[in-house]
Amino acid sequence: MTKSVGILTAGGDSPGLNAAIRGVGKAAIGAYGMQIIGFRDGFRGLMQDRTIRLTGTELSGILTVGGTILGTSRDKPHKMPVGDQTMDMTSVMLETYHKHHLDALVCLGGGGTQKNAYHLSQHGMNIITLPKTIDNDVSGTDMTFGFDTALGIATEAIDRLHSTAHSHHRIIVVELMGHNAGWLALGAGLAGGADVILIPELPYDVQVVAEAIRQRQRRGAGFSIVAVSEGALSKEDAEALSNAIAEKAAAKEENDKKKKERANARLAKLAETMQDKTLRLSRQLEQLTGLESRVTILGHLQRGGTPSAADRLLATRLGTTCAELIDRGVFGVMVAARGERAEPVPLEEVVGKVKLVPPDHPWVKTARDIGVCLGDQV
Ligand code: F6P
Repeated sequence: MTKSVGILTAGGDSPGLNAAIRGVGKAAIGAYGMQIIGFRDGFRGLMQDRTIRLTGTELSGILTVGGTILGTSRDKPHKMPVGDQTMDMTSVMLETYHKHHLDALVCLGGGGTQKNAYHLSQHGMNIITLPKTIDNDVSGTDMTFGFDTALGIATEAIDRLHSTAHSHHRIIVVELMGHNAGWLALGAGLAGGADVILIPELPYDVQVVAEAIRQRQRRGAGFSIVAVSEGALSKEDAEALSNAIAEKAAAKEENDKKKKERANARLAKLAETMQDKTLRLSRQLEQLTGLESRVTILGHLQRGGTPSAADRLLATRLGTTCAELIDRGVFGVMVAARGERAEPVPLEEVVGKVKLVPPDHPWVKTARDIGVCLGDQV
């Protein structure tokens, strides 16, 4: 019997998704004689049964293309926006799965997608996932595809900011993506030669950052590049946030509605004030150092365009292993990169965890050893 495989991409797009779709598809069809069907726009397409044919033709010429030919969304199966409500649409998705007589569903995504895919596997679907995200924060895999491309783009941006910062004797604060993980800012900051790197895992003291910049001034370097992760927080903000989170957890435990409302209001206020935290940091550094400062937010540039060679290779080898695992009937797993190998990791070991930069990670030590200020100590 020919096996039928569905595939979807969910969460934020990431370079290498098309390379992965191609890898899964070509191996599934060519090496294992399966047929494959794509669902559009993540779990929404599975709910609405919106499909795309994936034969040899559709899988050709997409290796170098950015984004995802399937489209994507951040929708969750059990909390699907329907009108102005959210509803559990798992059973509708199961109907689509059975209607197409699928033997497996491949879900390509980051941490949120792993969780959603696990949910579907607990409801009877044969699920297998691949880890993608520019944030590199998925647990259980050495690396996610998309990260290397974003690292290259962000590094080039930091390279280019050097000449303008140098010419104007300015501070340039460059904000990088990464959600709550500092991999991208730390990696690109190191590779691009940033003078200060601020990551969420190490809350910073603005006085420490200013002093590092003043020290550079005293040594004759009249400019500084500050690479800051979008999730980086000052020590004060980090403390306020963890207090509000603790308050919310306590209110939930005590089942105290009023307390929960207060904690939610506090969290919402904090989120609002943190919206322009990079701009705030830039202004503080201007005041404390007397240097002019400018902000560059790289944003979605880091996710766009053609994937790097390393991401194409990673996505292709994870994709072909995925097809092999489907052939062997291995489900409920994420295909992880482990050194040169691609290995299945049970989804329950992946979900609910975020791979953050450990404070003793070699990249952190490397940064300190070359005199980069990480904002936490002089
Ligand atoms: O997870 C990838 C990512 O690019 C994060 O780095 C960033 O915080 C987020 O997605 C942005 O999401 P959106 O594209 O939905 O604004």
